[in-house]
Amino acid sequence: MAQIVAFHYSQTGQGLEILRNVCCPFSEAGYEVVYKPITPVVPYPFPWTSEAFFDAFPESRQGIGCEVIVPSLSDVPDPAMVLIVWPAWFLSPAIPLHGFFQNETVCEYLRNKTVVTVCGCRNMWVKAQEKLNEYLSACGANHRGTIILQDRHHNLVSVVTIIRWLIGGKQDGTRLFPDAGVSYKDIRNSSIFGYILVKEILTPERIQPELMKVEAIRYKPNIVFVEKVGHKIFGLWSKWILKRGGPGSERRKFRLILFKYYLFSVLFLVSPIGLLVFYLSYPLRIKGIRKEIQKRCYMK
Ligand SMILES: Cc1cc2nc3c(=O)[nH]c(=O)nc-3n(C[C@H](O)[C@H](O)[C@H](O)COP(=O)(O)O)c2cc1C
Repeated sequence: MAQIVAFHYSQTGQGLEILRNVCCPFSEAGYEVVYKPITPVVPYPFPWTSEAFFDAFPESRQGIGCEVIVPSLSDVPDPAMVLIVWPAWFLSPAIPLHGFFQNETVCEYLRNKTVVTVCGCRNMWVKAQEKLNEYLSACGANHRGTIILQDRHHNLVSVVTIIRWLIGGKQDGTRLFPDAGVSYKDIRNSSIFGYILVKEILTPERIQPELMKVEAIRYKPNIVFVEKVGHKIFGLWSKWILKRGGPGSERRKFRLILFKYYLFSVLFLVSPIGLLVFYLSYPLRIKGIRKEIQKRCYMK
């Protein structure tokens, strides 16, 4: 029986739920789907404390992976496809994903394998996906598909709901706010991507264009504009914080608190101005945006 390997890291279960829906058509078509968790040796908390949440920032942004328990791979020597579901943390792959790709056994395993990545995030995934692409290319994987599922609500609304979820543990909406995360409808509908993967598994070069026909990626140039600026500034902050030590270090706590206040003020005060700049300069950006869509959504 042909196999599909599905690696996953998901704290809330959202990513795994997406993955199960994507994999459903494979099971229906007679493939054996083998799920493999990506497990950090020291787990990250969920729900998070505010302190732990921000303490994950410097390592996420600088790509300093944690140690992960490498799943056994001998039972899946030659899968027809490898799926990897992952979340973005601070505009970068989550720390356990850095650890996963930085592991030599994993990297060796991925060489020449056909890989499709599936991200479940809030709405800022572009730079994180870029980093993931770098990892896959360095391992010699045959990266053929990118699927992004995001929260469709307004940027600032999703900031509030995701914090309420990740730090407060409450996913359900209130009278004022919607449910947090990728919508139940989008998660359930993600099996549509699986049907395409099953159909195109023998013609990998067609996977991404076919996935795009069913909106595997919703590219929002305004959000990408804000994200790119944020990514650069996060780079400076993370280096500055890391000068005061590694995860959990007392000495870096003050800098992390400063970063937290910086982040909230940027999100709620500066990013609306950034968006205004984006809209005003939109006509000058159209060509570049079209090029980016080709690169990031069609993988050209
Ligand atoms: C520490 C942390 C930072 C996050 N940063 C981002 C981010 O930069 N962009 C984004 O779209 N989502 C971000 N998220 C949301 C996650 O990508 C994801 O949607 C959420 O954590 C649920 O994922 P799960 O499958 O691990 O449960 C962040 C989550 C955490 C825990």
